[in-house]
Amino acid sequence: MAESLRTHLIEELTDLLDAENQLTKALPKMAASSSTPTLKTAFQKHLQETRGQITRLETALRQLGEEPRRKTCEAMKGLITEGDEMMSNTPEGALRDAVMITAAQKVEHYEMATYGTARTYAQVLGERGVARLLAQTLKEEKAADAKLTTIAERSVNEEAAQEWSSQEEGLIERSTAWMGATMEATSKQLASGARRAGAMVGLAQDSPKPRTTRRSTTAARTRKSSRKTSNRRS
Ligand SMILES: [Fe+2]
Repeated sequence: MAESLRTHLIEELTDLLDAENQLTKALPKMAASSSTPTLKTAFQKHLQETRGQITRLETALRQLGEEPRRKTCEAMKGLITEGDEMMSNTPEGALRDAVMITAAQKVEHYEMATYGTARTYAQVLGERGVARLLAQTLKEEKAADAKLTTIAERSVNEEAAQEWSSQEEGLIERSTAWMGATMEATSKQLASGARRAGAMVGLAQDSPKPRTTRRSTTAARTRKSSRKTSNRRS
């Protein structure tokens, strides 16, 4: 709980310390999953920077008279979990790179917001040494974010869009092939149905005439003979 701006600053730095530590575990995985070489290098470089940022945070906390401690940064945990899910659900390639850039930029912006406000609090509290340390990290975070934008705009986004459209084309081709096969199968079924129906009609024609027909013929003969009889009587 923040009792003063100083304790609030300590809380924020403690939160950042855990956030950076979480990132040191996420970044190697992101670098390993990158298809674009510049993105892989950017993640690897930022991993090294992050280790330096952890040292700065520990120094800043000690300068404020606090021993660095661990407290889970729930926001970073959520951002990493969400990014990880998105990554796992996207096949390797430019599209996955784009997904990782989105996740990484969300992380960078979270850090920029926190480092920016923490630096201002340090300045307000007259902690110039702490403010300098935080300003150095803020500069690195901004540069990392800008680098991700450049990579996205120069190589990843367009390739990701092409990958998507080729996936779409593939889907259309598969759908057309499926529709063709289905229509062929349907027409074959209809043709064989028609042949069966035709055969049944043929059977009906060859079969003996129904009894009702014969009966009616007999009845007609009977009526004829009875007419003859009545004629003879008259
Ligand atoms: Fe960072």
